[in-house]
Amino acid sequence: MNSNLSNIGLIGLAVMGENLALNIERNGYRVSVYNRSGETVDRFINGRAKGKNFQGFKNIEEFVASIERPRKIILMIKAGGPVDAVIQQLLPYLEKGDIIMDGGNSNYTDSERRVEELYERGIYFVGSGISGGEEGALNGPSIMPGGAAEAKEHILPILEKISAKAKDGTPCCAWIGGGGAGHFVKMVHNGIEYGDMQIISEAYFIMKKLLNYSNDRMADIFGEWNKGKLESYLVEITEQILRFRDKDGNHLIDYILDAAGQKGTGKWSVINSLEFGIPLNLISTAVYERSLSALKDLREKAAALYNPFLVPEPFKGSGNPEHKIENAMYASKLVSYAQGFQLIKAASNEHNWGIDLAAVARIWRGGCIIRSAFLGEISNALTRNPDLENLLLDEFFKKEIEQALDDWREVVSVCIISGLPIPACSSSINYFHSLTTKVLPANMLQAQRDFFGAHTFERTDRPRGEFYHENWTGEGGTTASTVYAV
Ligand code: 6PG
Repeated sequence: MNSNLSNIGLIGLAVMGENLALNIERNGYRVSVYNRSGETVDRFINGRAKGKNFQGFKNIEEFVASIERPRKIILMIKAGGPVDAVIQQLLPYLEKGDIIMDGGNSNYTDSERRVEELYERGIYFVGSGISGGEEGALNGPSIMPGGAAEAKEHILPILEKISAKAKDGTPCCAWIGGGGAGHFVKMVHNGIEYGDMQIISEAYFIMKKLLNYSNDRMADIFGEWNKGKLESYLVEITEQILRFRDKDGNHLIDYILDAAGQKGTGKWSVINSLEFGIPLNLISTAVYERSLSALKDLREKAAALYNPFLVPEPFKGSGNPEHKIENAMYASKLVSYAQGFQLIKAASNEHNWGIDLAAVARIWRGGCIIRSAFLGEISNALTRNPDLENLLLDEFFKKEIEQALDDWREVVSVCIISGLPIPACSSSINYFHSLTTKVLPANMLQAQRDFFGAHTFERTDRPRGEFYHENWTGEGGTTASTVYAV
């Protein structure tokens, strides 16, 4: 056996790829790297990789030949067409039993397809979410692999080693399930990330616009929140952002244009929530708010036309407003996670992925962008009851919601009366109210559907599953339209 062979190969030396390669090498592996542009390979090999256990290649055949079998090749390239293109370039040189792992933000349906297509050729494909940005890739990200089960024993030990470790020392990496399970879970992670960011932005907006707090004062408050139940990476960086001054001594946050970007994983979460029929109100709202923020010109025209005025409504009664905002954020966040986990559960059931939801919560406790103390509580709830339909049905979270509820309602009411938009917080409270309302006005919807389209309805005084049609006007026929459900 050639002792020069690398233990693993990595393709794509952009920010994430380069840092992940360094992480793998630091953990005791010899790594072959390949990049489409040879210059990038030279820059890496002669730069950050110098003196380390790397081999650089500009020729893909030589790259493949340099890796011990079964080969493990990680792709850290742009999602979509480029992943298929690189797989096609690799295939002529791969042998049965080799493993390709895609660590980008791929759409899970692509991973699902790639697992199947490659399996037929004896190649095991793994679609893995990797979260934590540049710093995480280097020092330990949260890793969500899924795909061909045969790959698990070969790839998982390496991934566990390079992943972040939670406070209790356990790796923030677990085998998620078959097919596209890994990328599905990463997609929902990103959706939740959008939601958390929107909730934080709304809290910032309330303190800035209604309470007139300075950036430094808000930074102190986020710092305090980070010691309590909202403790999380995103709250931590929000404190740092609010304190940050540019070279002119100004708070940079005040000079950043309010037009958000997005690369698509939040949108995919929402599309899937519609496909699976699982409400994802908060995340959808967060995605739409990014879209609305990006319609900057339209918003400026509308603002000039309506000239809305903000009349800050005082917070009622005792208790400091910050504490109320903290509770509103916490309850909203809980709704968002309850919805996200329910979506994962629905997809797992549909695809037979067998996803362990408690494990997902566990591996999100460290390394990833949404890492937080709160995920430990979620993991506990899902361990107590792996079949939990929705986190809001858990006893612990019930108590948490109950103690936050008055403040949540007050914060949303104050903002609406004042004219301050807090769409995520209000959509989540409306979801909570709908979820906990035993009888909703959907009887009226059903009556209307039957009135104009003979779509039928079930009756409260008859067993579920029996459908009725009424001749509402005395003019229509008695034929009901076919019953089908989305
Ligand atoms: C992560 C992040 C990352 C994502 C960015 C950008 O988990 O490390 O989710 O994968 O690329 O957050 O996402 P948007 O550009 O859509 O905001």
